[in-house]
Amino acid sequence: MNAVAARYTPTQRHLHWLMAILVVLAYLLVEQRDLFPRGSSGRFAMMQGHFWAGITIFLLAFWRIATRRRHGAPPITPALDRFSALASKSMHIALYAFFIVMPLLGMATAWSDGKVIEIPFTGAALPALLPENKPLAHTLEDIHGTIGDIFYWVIGLHVLAALYHHWVRRDDTLRRML
Ligand code: HEM
Ligand code: HEM
Repeated sequence: MNAVAARYTPTQRHLHWLMAILVVLAYLLVEQRDLFPRGSSGRFAMMQGHFWAGITIFLLAFWRIATRRRHGAPPITPALDRFSALASKSMHIALYAFFIVMPLLGMATAWSDGKVIEIPFTGAALPALLPENKPLAHTLEDIHGTIGDIFYWVIGLHVLAALYHHWVRRDDTLRRML
């Protein structure tokens, strides 16, 4: 019980916490955009921050998946029953899918809505890969926002599961990620 937990590699642990911060930042920036009126530079900065938090998540996801495939996950002690192992695996796959799908939908929303994604400190913008199309932008924004709402619950459950393992089941799940 008090044995030192076999941990995720340092890269896996750093990526986990860095991406957790970026996900929180992406949500915060977009949810608080109404602090600034439409068309103001403050709102523009909030949205550009949202875009780039999301694009960074997208890019880091590939590195993260590669390290996960190379190093796997350390065993949990005591081991999980088959149902819990399957439940946690499904959760993690859903979270990885979220890292890829949300930014792609977000970029498609921005471009079809005619919004620029500025490259910070350069005055240049990413080339828009979709033409402006407002009806499409509305549909994509609805899907992007709905998945965003669903993942409040998925992420909340993920955090509760981590705390349950640590404080109730008293296994080393969380220590492996610290
Ligand atoms: C994991 C990454 C992301 C998360 C969690 C996320 C989350 C969200 C959420 C929850 C909303 C809805 C806000 C609301 O309805 O009030 C939203 C809106 C939006 N997001 Fe994202 N997003 C992500 C990535 C991106 C990226 C990479 C882009 C573009 C480069 C983007 C562009 C947009 C746009 C254009 C809107 C509509 C905002 C508006 O109409 O003012 N998102 N996002
Ligand atoms: C936005 C927030 C978060 C996201 C998106 C996220 C995402 C993920 C993902 C994708 C994995 C799977 C790693 C693997 O491939 O094995 C994971 C594992 C893990 N996360 Fe998070 N996480 C977040 C926040 C947190 C927080 C706040 C905690 C702790 C309270 C936490 C604790 C853990 C633990 C303990 C694991 C290892 C689970 C296991 O191997 O069974 N996470 N997280």
